[in-house]
Amino acid sequence: MSAAPQKTKSGAEQIEVTVSAVVPVNDLVTRFEFSRVDGQPFPTFSGGAHTVVIMNDDGRRRMNPYSLMSDPADTSTYAISVRRDDAGRGGSLFMHTQVKVGDVMTLSYPVNLFSLDLRARKNLFFAGGIGITPFLSMIAQLERMNGNWELHYSVRSADLGTYADDLKTKYPNNVHVYYDDQSQSIPLTDLLDGQPLGTNAYVCGPKGMIAWVHASAKEAGWPDAQVHSEEFTAPQPGKPFEVRLCKSDMTIKVGENESLLEALEREGVDAPFLCRGGACGQCETTVVSHDGEFIHRDHWLDDDQHASGTKIMPCVSRFVGASLLLDR
Ligand code: FES
Repeated sequence: MSAAPQKTKSGAEQIEVTVSAVVPVNDLVTRFEFSRVDGQPFPTFSGGAHTVVIMNDDGRRRMNPYSLMSDPADTSTYAISVRRDDAGRGGSLFMHTQVKVGDVMTLSYPVNLFSLDLRARKNLFFAGGIGITPFLSMIAQLERMNGNWELHYSVRSADLGTYADDLKTKYPNNVHVYYDDQSQSIPLTDLLDGQPLGTNAYVCGPKGMIAWVHASAKEAGWPDAQVHSEEFTAPQPGKPFEVRLCKSDMTIKVGENESLLEALEREGVDAPFLCRGGACGQCETTVVSHDGEFIHRDHWLDDDQHASGTKIMPCVSRFVGASLLLDR
């Protein structure tokens, strides 16, 4: 009989896991593998899904989304790869410096905001740096289905080419790697030209790369629905600010190094979330009134909504000003 999954007030259900392997991949990236504490199989997921890793950093709870890179059909383990961000708020550093084999941690159930369109005749993948991780599970899924795929992967150098050598060895006909330090770049315009009808393109990597692929595909006449991307924004530190909450009838302070969502959670306010990276829309919150400026960092609201000042995504966005009243 399988144990009932833990249910949180907000967010996806959670699974207790043991860290079964910590594998340095290169100077910046480490892979973490997990098994379930209760010995049950992990839920299957679809390629491109992510999990939110819940970290207990000396009493401070950190929750970061990471793409699952393991084979979706392998229910014995989950794996993620974490790139160290020395300038970030500490989640990736905690993973790199504190997490050891045998530690018990909590993961959310997988959520997929970047799934394959299974109607596609061909899947054209563009990855930059650590943006390779969702493609690893997509490739595993497509290989089982005999799917048609091609990967174009841009890396800084051979030393920092996370999984590039493994991929080239395993799939020499599908994988093309471009090295920045050898002045190589993805021949995007040529690749977008002349693909078979029904090809879907997917991009994951730095912001500029995602924008480049979307803009080039548009220019080449690709329908928007056939170009997919995923980017999680990490919440950034900023000036502390105060928020009044009308439903909860309280005023809370958001500190320099916490997100608005984390401040709501600290005060016990039920605040929904899934991705915690500005991509899923779950945390969308109505602004009742404000006197100040928003620092919007999400990919969910459109430009008009950002300009209107009537919505905020508390997982990544901040506020600077005299007063902010939210419908929470
Ligand atoms: S939790 Fe996904 S957009 Fe905020």
